[in-house]
Amino acid sequence: MPITIIVGAQWGDEGKGRITDLLAAEAEMVARFSGGDNAGHTITVGNEVFKLHLVPSGIVQPNTVSVMGAGMAVNPKKLLEEMDGLMERGIDVSPSRLKLSAGAHLILPSHVALDGASEETRGEDALGTTKRGIGPTYADKAARTGLRSGDMLAADFARRVSQAVNAKNRVLVEIYGCHPLDAEAVADEFEGYARRLRPYIADVSLQVHLALQAGSRVLTEGAQGTLLDINHGTYPYVTSSSPIAGGVLTSLGVGPREVDRVIGVTKAFQTRVGEGPMPTELIGPLGNALRGTGANPWDEFGTTTGRPRRCGWLDLVLLRYAARINGFTELIITKLDVLSGLDQLRVGVAYKYGGREWRDLPFGPNALAESQPVYADLPGWSKDITGAREFADLPPAGRRYLDFVQQEVGVPITLVSVGPEREQIIRMIS
Ligand code: IMP
Repeated sequence: MPITIIVGAQWGDEGKGRITDLLAAEAEMVARFSGGDNAGHTITVGNEVFKLHLVPSGIVQPNTVSVMGAGMAVNPKKLLEEMDGLMERGIDVSPSRLKLSAGAHLILPSHVALDGASEETRGEDALGTTKRGIGPTYADKAARTGLRSGDMLAADFARRVSQAVNAKNRVLVEIYGCHPLDAEAVADEFEGYARRLRPYIADVSLQVHLALQAGSRVLTEGAQGTLLDINHGTYPYVTSSSPIAGGVLTSLGVGPREVDRVIGVTKAFQTRVGEGPMPTELIGPLGNALRGTGANPWDEFGTTTGRPRRCGWLDLVLLRYAARINGFTELIITKLDVLSGLDQLRVGVAYKYGGREWRDLPFGPNALAESQPVYADLPGWSKDITGAREFADLPPAGRRYLDFVQQEVGVPITLVSVGPEREQIIRMIS
């Protein structure tokens, strides 16, 4: 059986982890392919809430193997902490169930320090990164000076770590005026991580091929979102990896013919963390209403950094763009219930920029920042929809909203979530 790709259609935080958890029940393998612990995926199973940053969300399903691709950047300390946390809660994270690509790059404390120092130095021009060392790690990857998880198998791994940290110490001290890191201490610490992680290191491309050959369904779990893609996102306010469908192929080492479903996950509204343009952003009471208070784990506060997310109306110009970049075969809408109680809803259908109206993204370095959204107004609904399990259970305005999105984007909606629990799902019959 082939590959199902799940990707975020927005700026991340679309609820992909939860959708992966749902679809993982029908898959034998779940793969993460981009980013690192900048991601945060929240899954609710009964009364239990799992917050995962690195380990694929499929791990909470008892019968799936979880793999982490070569396109990832992995902080081994964070990975082990997460694995320990899962084990304490009775989840099996043995090497037969979790595999780390030898090609995934390692995030060292020097990368984390550089990320922080660079953001601080930028001041008002900061990118708003998660300060997890993501950018500096991928910079080393592109410069071909990074350490990969396969290096943990080498006899002189500790020496390689101390050399890498010392190289960055020069930048930290001379450029940023920071204290140097103790390279030997870091090397010792990493030797300990390597001892524990060695059994998990694998040729993930081969593992995926073997699974496909055996007739298994492989589900790939996106992190971040299309608009944060290094090539196709809102550069420079992007992450440093490729969280789009194309990124699956390069990260896992598979060809495009293996893929038969590309699922785009979008919230029923728009959110963004960090800096950068967001044409449909709502500042004030409406934006606050969409965000929630933070009392619930699913309110709009970053899973990784706790930062409040910027909230706004759903932007269909960006959603159409994401459908094109990824080749969506279906759309999943999350958090439709959050829109309940609003008298009137708006969706961005075009932009005004440079004296004309655009249904596709206008070009130019500042185009998105200078674009004014053109809205379509739709009726809201007051009914609580968290108990809806079928399309027919939704109020007419809720059905109208979904139909409108589907028509504007030109991709069928297959699932809609109306609450955080596994069963709070509407399966659409097309
Ligand atoms: P970095 O990936 O830490 O370098 O951050 C770059 C940008 O991507 C910042 O705006 C972050 O807020 C954003 N970002 C990175 N990972 C995620 C994620 O998983 N969800 C939402 N935003 C993210």
